[in-house]
Amino acid sequence: MSGRAARSVRVALPGKDRSYPVRLGTGTLARAGDEIARTTKATRAVVVTVPPVARRYAPRLERSLREAGIRSHRIVVPDGDASKNLRQISKLYDALLELGADRTTAIIALGGGVVGDLAGFLAASYLRGVPFVQVPTTILAMVDSSVGGKVGVNVPQGKNLIGAFHQPRLVWVDLEVLASLPARQRAAGLVEAIKHGVILDRALFERFERDLERALALDPAVLVSLLTRAVALKAEVVGRDEREAGVRTLLNFGHTLGHAAEKLSGYGKLLHGEAVAAGMVHAARRSEALELAPGGTAERLQAVVERLGIEPELPPFPRRAYLSAIRVDKKRTESHIRFVVLRRIGAADTVPLTPSEVYPPRPGPSQRRQRRGSLRT
Ligand SMILES: NC(=O)c1ccc[n+]([C@@H]2O[C@H](COP(=O)([O-])OP(=O)(O)OC[C@H]3O[C@@H](n4cnc5c(N)ncnc54)[C@H](O)[C@@H]3O)[C@@H](O)[C@H]2O)c1
Ligand SMILES: [Zn+2]
Repeated sequence: MSGRAARSVRVALPGKDRSYPVRLGTGTLARAGDEIARTTKATRAVVVTVPPVARRYAPRLERSLREAGIRSHRIVVPDGDASKNLRQISKLYDALLELGADRTTAIIALGGGVVGDLAGFLAASYLRGVPFVQVPTTILAMVDSSVGGKVGVNVPQGKNLIGAFHQPRLVWVDLEVLASLPARQRAAGLVEAIKHGVILDRALFERFERDLERALALDPAVLVSLLTRAVALKAEVVGRDEREAGVRTLLNFGHTLGHAAEKLSGYGKLLHGEAVAAGMVHAARRSEALELAPGGTAERLQAVVERLGIEPELPPFPRRAYLSAIRVDKKRTESHIRFVVLRRIGAADTVPLTPSEVYPPRPGPSQRRQRRGSLRT
C-alpha cells in the first residue's frame, strides 16, 4: 500500500469551504504537495517543524511542495512543550514578516501536537488568519490534536490558556513516519485513540483489546484501520460541536485527573497520554462507584492500559494536592465540574460533581468495597 492515500475522513463543518479532509496512508508524505496546493491554493508555504522531525521528513515534504509549484521555507523551532509560548510566536511573526508572507502563504505544521498547536496559533493570528495544513507525525497528533481546530500556546499561569479555533484546510497523515517515533510516545498516543473507543464506540475499543500489540508494533493494516476509525470519531464530534458546547466535552474523559497528575508531577515527567490513561481508569472507577457504569468496566480499561506498559494508578500525591489542581483546571463551571463518566464501554456522559466527589477520600479501599457490592456511603 506504499505511496497510496488509503483512507479519507471528512470533517464536516458549517460555512463555505470550511469542511476538510483527513487523509491517511502509508508512504504518502512524498506526494502531499498536490493536495496541499489544491486545498490551500497557496503559491508559497512555510513549514514549521522541530529538529528530530525536520531531519528525517522535511526534505521529502519540501520536494513534493516544489513539484506542486509551491515555494517553501522551513522554520525549525526547539523541540518540546516549552516551545509552545508567546515568545516563540513573536519570533515566528518576525520570520513571516521578513519573508513577506501574505494570505497566499500556507503554514504547514510538520510534527507532533506541539508543532501543530504552535503553528496553528501562528496561522490563526498572522494577518488575522492564513491557510493552515497539518502534517502530524505522532499518534497523538494524528488522532487528536491535528483534527478539530484547537490551537494555542501555554503561559506561565497554565497550559493552553491562550489560543483560537482555526481549522486546517487539510490533515495529511503518513503512518510510515511513526517508525521513528519512540515506543513510549507510541503507547501514550494510542491512549487518546483508545479513549475515542471507550467513550463513543465499543467496537473500536474491542478491536484495541484484540489487536493492541500489533498496533504498538505498527502493523500497517491494523494501524491504518484503528487510527482511521479513531479519527472518524473525533471528526464526527467536531462536526457536531466545533466549539465544545456539548458533545465535544466528552473528549475530556480522563483529563480532569490527567491534567492534575501532569501538573503535580511537573510537566514533562509523565507524557500527556500516560497521565490521561490513569485519569481514565480513575474516571471509570468513579463511574462504577456512582452506579453509572456496570461493574468490570474499569477493569477492562485498566487491562488495556497495562498492556500499553502504562501505570494505571494516578501518582501518589496527597489528596489535597489533587483537589486544588482540579479546582484550577479551566474546564470547570463554578463549584461543580462537568465530569465525564462512562455509562458503559462505548458510551459516556457528563455529570456535575464537586472536586471532592471527583476525588473522594480514600478512593482505593472504598471503591474495592463498591465492587463487592456493599452500600454506597
Ligand atoms: N489542539 C488539541 O486539540 C490538542 C489535543 C491534545 C494535545 N494537544 C497538545 O499536543 C501536545 C503534545 O503532542 P505530542 O504528544 O505529539 O508531543 P510532541 O509534539 O512534543 O512530540 C513528541 C516528541 O516526539 C518527537 N517526534 C514527533 N514526531 C516524530 C517522529 N515521527 N519520529 C521521531 N520523533 C518524533 C517530537 O520531536 C517530540 O520530541 C501538547 O502540547 C498538548 O497540549 C493539543
Ligand atoms: Zn488529551
